Amino acid sequence: MTMRPGTLATSHRLLAPRIAYVVGTRSPAGEANLIPVSNVTSVSTDPEQVLLAIYKNWTTYDNLSVASGFTLSVPSADQREGVWKLGARYSRYDFPNRTAKLHASKVRLTDDADSFGPILSDGLGWLSCRIVQRLDAGGNHGIFIGEVVHVEFNDDVYASDGTPVVNPRPLMQVTGNLFTTAGGTSSIPFGQ
Ligand SMILES: Cc1cc2nc3c(=O)[nH]c(=O)nc-3n(C[C@H](O)[C@H](O)[C@H](O)COP(=O)(O)O)c2cc1C
Repeated sequence: MTMRPGTLATSHRLLAPRIAYVVGTRSPAGEANLIPVSNVTSVSTDPEQVLLAIYKNWTTYDNLSVASGFTLSVPSADQREGVWKLGARYSRYDFPNRTAKLHASKVRLTDDADSFGPILSDGLGWLSCRIVQRLDAGGNHGIFIGEVVHVEFNDDVYASDGTPVVNPRPLMQVTGNLFTTAGGTSSIPFGQ
């Protein structure tokens, strides 16, 4: 086996697969939106904070630039088709507006569980996050850090502390339209 230099513009593909989270926002006029976002990570556990990177041309970027928060839902692998359609400007579906997109995706969503945006009502769980920082590192994505103010776990999958009781099987994007999910789990002893 040898390593060889690759194409710089696709180096982010080495960071895959990543969970295709679903971010919920509202426009200043109140229009609800849900989009898949894989650029997500935890950046603090005390307090709990998560970071999103959102392409500057998206409506979600405009919403996050003025909103006070967002929701973050975690879809399961069997929600692949609906999540794909929610990413319409990437997956090349044409809808007249965000309301039509949410309807056509056929995902089960709730728009009154949280004021920051809609959530997936039958995913693995969801977070509500208050934006505490907006960053621009000069790239084509804007960075938003949210502090978690509320969490709900699907109790078929997790105990109330977030420990999974079955294999969670989240929807994960490898690249483009190629998806996977987590395989089986195994444990290893701690050193002491
Ligand atoms: C699996 C998947 C992952 C995505 N991840 C991101 C991401 O991390 N950041 C981003 O800006 N867009 C991402 N997108 C693209 C947006 O979801 C998509 O273009 C969306 O339609 C933007 O909609 P909006 O203009 O209504 O905000 C992803 C799309 C898919 C299908």
